[in-house]
Amino acid sequence: MVAIHVLNGPNLNLLGQREPEVYGRLSLADIETRLRARAEVLAAAGGGAISLAFAQTNSEGELVTLVQNAGLAGAGVILNAGAYTHTSIALRDAISGSRALAIEVHLSNVHAREQFRHHSVIAAVAHGVIAGFGAAGYELALEAIVPLLRARTAAVEGVGNH
Ligand code: DQA
Repeated sequence: MVAIHVLNGPNLNLLGQREPEVYGRLSLADIETRLRARAEVLAAAGGGAISLAFAQTNSEGELVTLVQNAGLAGAGVILNAGAYTHTSIALRDAISGSRALAIEVHLSNVHAREQFRHHSVIAAVAHGVIAGFGAAGYELALEAIVPLLRARTAAVEGVGNH
């Protein structure tokens, strides 16, 4: 079984109402429903169960704790850190310090927007970045992270067998 924590930062609780021309009309609950369905399809295709946990917070410290907990538990992280992406060294340190396998997600194409959104302080410690595909970006991240986590689990089990 692989475990994945889908963590959302500030203002993402407003999805659906917040600047829909930028972020789309789906709420975070809609995104969760879609991701759970996609996880079931991926699990049914073979390779073992996928457990998903969702959380959203507007607080930087809480997001740091959520990332730490996921990383230390060996869970993968799909992270949309919202504006903390551009500012939070603490969040970057939480990813590297807990060795979280993280994929950074943005609904919007941050590189096509204001200059201050072009730089991510967490991208260098993320496994990869997905931006500009709207809510589908979370599903793309799920598709990407599941084989990475399965490979990591297989490698750890392989070491135990020798
Ligand atoms: C965002 C992009 C950030 O720049 C912004 O602060 C957000 C949302 C996105 O999903 O496109 O809150 O992370």
